[in-house]
Amino acid sequence: MKQDRQLKTPFFTKLKDYGTSGVTPFDLPGHKLGRVKNDLADFIGLNTFLLDSNSPIGLDSLAKPTGVIKEAQALFAEACGADRCYFLTNGTTMGNLAMIMSTCKADDKILLPRNVHKSVINGLILSGAWPIFMKPDIDRDFGITLGVSFETAKQTIDENPDAVAILLINPTYFGIVSDLERISDYAHEHNMVVLIDEAHGAQFYFCDKLPLGSMQAGADICATSVHKTAGSMTQSSVILAQGRRVDFTKLRSTLNILQSTSSSALLLASLDCARKTMHFEGQKRIEKIIEMAHKARERLANIPGLKVMDKPYIQANGSFNYDETKIVVKVSDLGLSGFEVFHKMKKKYNIQLELAETHIILCVLSMGTTKDDLDNLCDAFEDLSVQYYKPHRRLGKIRFDYELPTAYARPRDAYHAPKLFVPLQDAVNEISAESIMIYPPGIPLVIPGELITEEVVRNINYYVKKGSTLLSDLEDGRFKIINKEKWIKYEGDIDEFIDEEE
Ligand SMILES: Cc1ncc(COP(=O)(O)O)c(C=O)c1O
Repeated sequence: MKQDRQLKTPFFTKLKDYGTSGVTPFDLPGHKLGRVKNDLADFIGLNTFLLDSNSPIGLDSLAKPTGVIKEAQALFAEACGADRCYFLTNGTTMGNLAMIMSTCKADDKILLPRNVHKSVINGLILSGAWPIFMKPDIDRDFGITLGVSFETAKQTIDENPDAVAILLINPTYFGIVSDLERISDYAHEHNMVVLIDEAHGAQFYFCDKLPLGSMQAGADICATSVHKTAGSMTQSSVILAQGRRVDFTKLRSTLNILQSTSSSALLLASLDCARKTMHFEGQKRIEKIIEMAHKARERLANIPGLKVMDKPYIQANGSFNYDETKIVVKVSDLGLSGFEVFHKMKKKYNIQLELAETHIILCVLSMGTTKDDLDNLCDAFEDLSVQYYKPHRRLGKIRFDYELPTAYARPRDAYHAPKLFVPLQDAVNEISAESIMIYPPGIPLVIPGELITEEVVRNINYYVKKGSTLLSDLEDGRFKIINKEKWIKYEGDIDEFIDEEE
């Protein structure tokens, strides 16, 4: 019965029927089902425009679904074992905002790792919540941050029993998975709502050889980028939710604050269809991908100058689990940085990697990855190794550490505080009024309210020099800091900080 239901694509089917029905369109959008030609229409063809309609009769409303959207969302929830699913057309960015805003009021405490995506930090600004940051584990050999261990989560929960929520990432960008079941149980014992940023974990629900999806692990709400790893179109994500701790009414209201009133029907349809394909084909095809990835890892690990992350390594080093659809390669022993490899791969071999860090590069695999893709990657690395690897080169030890930054204000207070705009060198020892990050991964180096240390400035300069895209609010090379002279005094730490400065 459940299988039969999953064959349906209620929203896509209705949308297709509508687009091809010969309707006389006096509604929006203005291209009138593709009648207004342009270069894009010429390239992609009419069908895309036939599906780009905006809530005509029969196609339901994302703000208050009662028809085909409701049905499509229910099928998605069922496929993932959740109570409810909400389709999103502004990515997990919007999902993270909605999860946090619907769970935390101003001044509520939320526990979370510091290496979160900027959307989570923006969720703190919009909700007014107080973050209590947890230190992620780190891997000094690959020079990256990992997940949050059960012990760290437990200690943070014990020290902050008044927190209303804990937010975790499942998995991290690099594929590291925390022990969500254990952490969720412990957080629930302390009446906390468990929120999961699942931007990189949509595939988990469709293959039992992968780690658990967060709904399966007992979390309350997650935001999941179906578009990143499960085949729907860019920006289409879902929120999944379950259980009595979720305030479904507030979640709905929050979504309606954040969601466009003209959500893309094309994106919604792509969620509907991706779910069906993943449900019926995910298990087999992802198993195949895991096998292919395994073989590619073996080949890469035999190339001089490369080291490859895998599940046994990750688990032997204390992390709970690993998403084997990610390939993380340490490249710096070739004598090249991850950034250099990132650019060389594109320029010389036409291979687009997902992400680079100082020592590593990241490849993300999905059902769309082919054996040829992985062969190309391995061939390119063999070529790079022949060119750059020098067996007797003395390598400096990686110096990678991770300290929690010093914060003087709630992100929201810093965001609203009076500001000065200064060049980077003048920002040292000032309090940031903005998030500054490189993209990808979009994890802020500093967030509003945090001290801009010399190390932060060094890191910013380093990433810029390496050609990374720096995201900050101003385009003229200056940064926003808090104008302490004009800052209205708040209670607590902030007063102390100002007093110290005087
Ligand atoms: C960990 C994490 N969370 C959230 C997001 C935002 O997801 P989306 O691109 O679907 O808005 C990203 C995007 O890269 C991410 O890496």
